[in-house]
Amino acid sequence: MNSRLLFALGLSLAALLPSPTSAETVWLDQLDVRAAIQGWGTPQKNKTVDGNPLTLDGKVFKRGFGTHAESVLNIKLDGAAKSFSASVGVDDEVKKNPASSVEFFVIGDGKPLWKSGVKRAGEAASVCEVDLTGVKALVLKVGDGDDSIDYDHADWADAKFETASTKTFVTSGEPLLPPVAPYILTPAAPATPRINGASVFGVRPGSPFLFTIPATGNRPMTFAVQKLPRGLKLDAQTGQITGALEKSGEFTVTLVAKNKLGTAKKKFRIVCGDTIALTPPMGWNSWNCFAGEVTAERVKQAANALVKSGLINHGWTYINVDDFWQNHRDSKDATLQGPTRLPTGEIQPNSRFPDMKGLADYVHGLGLKIGLYSSPGPWTCGGCAGSWQYERQDAQTYAKWGFDYLKYDWCSYGEIASGGDPSAKNIPLWGKTATNQAGAIYPYAVMGKFLREQNRDIVYSLCQYGMADVWKWGDSVAGNCWRTTGDITDTWRSMSTIGFRQDQAAPFAKPGNWNDPDMLIVGEVGWGRTHPTRLSVDEQYTHISLWCLLASPLLIGCDMEKFDDFTLNLLSNDEVLAVDQDALGKQAVCVLKQGDVWVYVKELADGSRAVGFFNRSVKPVEISFKDFAPLGLSGKQTVRDLWRQKEVAKIKVATAALPLTIPAHGVVLYQFTKVK
Ligand code: GAL
Repeated sequence: MNSRLLFALGLSLAALLPSPTSAETVWLDQLDVRAAIQGWGTPQKNKTVDGNPLTLDGKVFKRGFGTHAESVLNIKLDGAAKSFSASVGVDDEVKKNPASSVEFFVIGDGKPLWKSGVKRAGEAASVCEVDLTGVKALVLKVGDGDDSIDYDHADWADAKFETASTKTFVTSGEPLLPPVAPYILTPAAPATPRINGASVFGVRPGSPFLFTIPATGNRPMTFAVQKLPRGLKLDAQTGQITGALEKSGEFTVTLVAKNKLGTAKKKFRIVCGDTIALTPPMGWNSWNCFAGEVTAERVKQAANALVKSGLINHGWTYINVDDFWQNHRDSKDATLQGPTRLPTGEIQPNSRFPDMKGLADYVHGLGLKIGLYSSPGPWTCGGCAGSWQYERQDAQTYAKWGFDYLKYDWCSYGEIASGGDPSAKNIPLWGKTATNQAGAIYPYAVMGKFLREQNRDIVYSLCQYGMADVWKWGDSVAGNCWRTTGDITDTWRSMSTIGFRQDQAAPFAKPGNWNDPDMLIVGEVGWGRTHPTRLSVDEQYTHISLWCLLASPLLIGCDMEKFDDFTLNLLSNDEVLAVDQDALGKQAVCVLKQGDVWVYVKELADGSRAVGFFNRSVKPVEISFKDFAPLGLSGKQTVRDLWRQKEVAKIKVATAALPLTIPAHGVVLYQFTKVK
């Protein structure tokens, strides 16, 4: 059995615990607490999630389980435990952050046995004492206290069972859904040429132009472009269009791809003007797999993998380096670590990134683009040097190196905004709340202005978790996309809470401006220690379908050297990706809720509509769907299954009853096109 299936069964982390030290007491840390599923970080024995001593309101505990909301640990007791006790709370390591709030639950055989109420950082521990007589299956759960999971570092301190006899207890992650083996819906691309990807591309006058024609089909393949405007040239072998356009204007060209078996053509609009990112950026980012372990070598390998896997032929373009590439400012003295001490310096990469320009050249050479990451504060979230007070210089440096994308992450800026002293050593990184809107906008406006001054198109991605309704003003600071939420993780709870809560920002999505519900969590993910995503197969179909309907930036978060067939097919369905890349640039909203089935509709440029029927329950549903009015459909429609890439019905909306079978946590993604 492969590891993915094991995960699906919820057994992969199941383990037998070592024999308890006595017949009476079994400490929780003697069980395999690594089996817990949690919202961030890795489960820790006798330490906090950050690896510090367990500390609640100044009191240090030697033993216990350090975790992070949302956290679930199942323990098979089979009636052998008499009681459970623990001191629980939010660890002092996040004391400075008002966002940290959690709630602890003890559940026995499906029944609530104890709950802590909402606990916040700095509060004394709550003592939990629970009678477990007769309980077979125990769940220790930590909820997010009904806000986000940000900074929710939760401790089950001094946690132990009193047992009737020496016993071994088995722990496991939560087997929520019946196991489903991976199944591939995307049909193989034909051997004949097919040109995929967006039908429109934005560039600014004078900026270096780079666009690689994404085409599937057998190689060798040659390319041509009819009516290519002056200033641009095509490499007929690679399909890379380069050069620069001097003046604003709109050019409709025909892209041509040819191999032994045939020729494909596609109309394509090049819009030279103010606006870039006319469709949501598609690519990869290092964070969800490598986090602090990112290196230039790994970035190159990711770029190679994007090409080798064929994803480049489906429009995937950006290779983005996230946090942990930077070191400090110019200095002869390597012991100087702070930007504020080095007033004239250019940002320096760390030793794992010996040549930033060389790296950018390498990625461009493959026909791809490259991005990087900074913070408006003095430090990034990972504690590397940020751009504070060096914004202009950094924008110039990024352009000089040849970068095409900047993710700009709030991080330590909160300290500046609230009058903290940025020159102080070890500035705390708790900047994730902004109280005044102007304070939240200002740092983004500064960098936006400097990026725009560069003779290079740099996609500007704001990362501040949605503060001050960023979707309302992101455009005004030259933003192209902006995160609308905190960080995603590879659980249903995280993905679905984020994905199904995007409607309020929808009216602000348009070509050049995209709401960003965070990066993709399919494939091998794991923030430095990768594992197969914990999303079920159908949850992954939901994830990709929903993100495409939401016209979200699509940034693959996994280790692309470890692609399996399922993941690759999930990411290379051109009809599904076309929903995301549609030139009209509308974001789907939920138009109908029928019990657990939520229906999302996205208007497309050709007048058709993409519709996602999502089943949010843990059981498959079968329905006969009749309620077409809220979907904005009328007359006769053809119904196309986008994952299977085939027409499934022709309906008369007034009388139709469309049979739908939607897997647990799964989706049916259809396109409805009016029959003329
Ligand atoms: C977070 C951000 C993540 C990642 C990380 C790097 O604030 O949301 O996506 O960039 O910082 O430290």
